Amino acid sequence: MSAPNSSNHTPKIDPKALRSALGTFTTGVTIITTQADNGEPVGLTANSFNSVSLEPPLVLWSLAKTALSLPIFNTAEHWNVHVLSMDQQALSNRFAARGEDKFKDLQLDQGITNAPLLSQCSARFQCKTAFIHDGGDHVIFIGEVLDFDQSNLPPLVFQSGQYALTARKPWQDVSLSQADAPLECSYTEDLLGYLLGRAHFQMLKGMQQELAKYDLTSSHFFALSVLAIRDGLTLAQINAHIDYTGQALTQGQLDQLIHANLLAYRESKTTDAEVFLTEQGRQASLGQIAQAKAIEDELIDELGRGDVTALKLLLKRIIHQTDPGLPDLWSTDSN
Ligand SMILES: Cc1cc2nc3c(=O)[nH]c(=O)nc-3n(C[C@H](O)[C@H](O)[C@H](O)COP(=O)(O)O)c2cc1C
Repeated sequence: MSAPNSSNHTPKIDPKALRSALGTFTTGVTIITTQADNGEPVGLTANSFNSVSLEPPLVLWSLAKTALSLPIFNTAEHWNVHVLSMDQQALSNRFAARGEDKFKDLQLDQGITNAPLLSQCSARFQCKTAFIHDGGDHVIFIGEVLDFDQSNLPPLVFQSGQYALTARKPWQDVSLSQADAPLECSYTEDLLGYLLGRAHFQMLKGMQQELAKYDLTSSHFFALSVLAIRDGLTLAQINAHIDYTGQALTQGQLDQLIHANLLAYRESKTTDAEVFLTEQGRQASLGQIAQAKAIEDELIDELGRGDVTALKLLLKRIIHQTDPGLPDLWSTDSN
């Protein structure tokens, strides 16, 4: 142990390192609001919020002594704590900026006090100041909860200086099989490619029925789904969009779709003629989208919206990371 260097024998603490270590303690994100004496709404983003007591119902949070809002909170009789939901990251950033009109264009709900009450949060606590304590470079506010409410919107999370989403972890890790892999085999059930592939095929099994209605293979399906987003593409353009699947629509398969009256050439057929969805093709595509949405809704019911959103976020990051440079299907200015 290094030699004590302060009067109460505390070893020297590096504030930056301390901040970093404290950041591993994952929190939600709140916005705390109050009303100034002149009627102006005041608020800031805070993750120092915590529960204190159930009976009596008490919560706390701490405010930096440098905060512009300190004099107002010091005399405020009431304040509201808003536990932000996962879609409120922009609001969090807005309330973490100094000196802006933080409440501009915000729709407020009616609370039981004059403190502004924000909407679309995971939970809200309307509080009366109970105690104010000095806390070093912060002031600690303890409030009595007068009223509260909760929605089913999953919360926004903050960890190590970054926003995050929660994915719940079961009490025991999910194991797909009990048997150990043979020694000579280096595949494990934890291999990401295996997990992605198996999840994909298992989840989309329900799509097969929908495709069977029109006798479609996955290449047909990929082409129809591209045209459902961006109609009027040539065979080469369709294939550029589905290149990531490792499959390509052949001229023969395109002819099958035209023969089945799912696609049509607008003008006479040439090798680079654009194809369009027919009315029947659009109906088939709508059926497939409805089926895909139904599968997703079922998964949300099983896993919860928060976990599915966290999963989507990670998948988008993998897609972005591994993107070979595909043309953007959803933007209006690319083909
Ligand atoms: C995720 C996050 C958590 C924060 N937590 C706190 C906090 O608990 N206490 C605090 O004083 N400032 C906190 N801040 C910083 C304040 O939001 C920021 O300093 C704000 O500008 C203060 O507003 P004011 O100066 O208008 O009072 C946090 C910022 C972010 C982005």
